[in-house]
Amino acid sequence: MTGKPDSADSFPGISEVKTVIRNALYPAPDRLGEIIGRLLENSGKMLRPRLLLACAALAGCGKKLKSNLLFESAAAVELIHTASLIHDDIIDEAASRRGRETLHLSWGPGRATHTGDLLLARAFALLSRPGSNKNLLLLLARTVAHLCRGEIYQMDQRYCWELTERQYYQINYYKTAHFMAACCEAGGWLAGASSPCRRALWHYGLKLGQAFQIVDDILDYTGCPDRLGKPVGNDLEQGRTTLPLIHLFETQKYYLKMVRMLPANTAPPRELQRILREAVKINGSLDYAIAAARKKQAEAVKALLHLPERPERQMLADIAAALTRRLSGSPDDWQPVDPGVKLS
Ligand code: FPP
Ligand code: MG
Repeated sequence: MTGKPDSADSFPGISEVKTVIRNALYPAPDRLGEIIGRLLENSGKMLRPRLLLACAALAGCGKKLKSNLLFESAAAVELIHTASLIHDDIIDEAASRRGRETLHLSWGPGRATHTGDLLLARAFALLSRPGSNKNLLLLLARTVAHLCRGEIYQMDQRYCWELTERQYYQINYYKTAHFMAACCEAGGWLAGASSPCRRALWHYGLKLGQAFQIVDDILDYTGCPDRLGKPVGNDLEQGRTTLPLIHLFETQKYYLKMVRMLPANTAPPRELQRILREAVKINGSLDYAIAAARKKQAEAVKALLHLPERPERQMLADIAAALTRRLSGSPDDWQPVDPGVKLS
């Protein structure tokens, strides 16, 4: 991706991944070229390719890995992620993403949908190149299926104020945690890692993904739209019950009674949203969710102990540590410190 270098570029291998993405999407005619240019300029944290690259380097223990396969696979996971966000923003009717107007608002939902589909097709083309690993292809095909399942399940549970923690974690798994776990395991496959090693990578990614989604759900209550580059408050507005609200309703039935009085399939009116937002704070429901995120984060770090003690392991621990720093109200800068590791 061109444009100004961002802090993600300092992560080993990320600029090569951006080049693969650019080559996979261009040339593109007219308006589509414009759309793609915009996407390339506005890449996000590149978390998933970072996970894949760092896990491959860790599992490979300094072994020289096939860099083209590595970068193509890392590019594929980023393309899948971007496609999912484009579709998600259409579904959520979100106005901004990564600090800019969403694609469906700028170019219409039809074009945005097809752009997402195109990215997905390019991702699977990258994963099907000669010499690529079939396990990776299957793993990421399953990931896309899980993303869709998670979204459908989440839609089915809209305005379900009695959502349980178990159901919440199911949605969390399908829409986020499985993907992160798959990126980590994919790194293991690319490094030819043993099955216990791949299992540990998977476990790290799973816990990291769970923590990531909990943090995201907390920030929907507490975050600053300018800092996050996307709207906040959408979950209540869309009738989505996430961990803070589940805790509030379980501990203060009074609030549950209030939302139960709403007509079916209706978002709480603005004043009730304000009350609920305030209540999750004073009732300790946000603290409860923060503690849950920290627990998952600690479990992610613990999973790393089963992996070789190398600089990339520290890199993965830093990624986990940076997750909950986002909650501190400091700028949305959760770039882990670059330990200067070079991918072979
Ligand atoms: C963000 O969730 C969205 C996801 C984690 C997954 C979206 C998946 C789909 C739309 C299924 C289709 C998938 C593909 C690959 C085309 P969020 O709305 O909670 O987070 P946000 O606040 O960042 O929008
Ligand atoms: Mg969304």
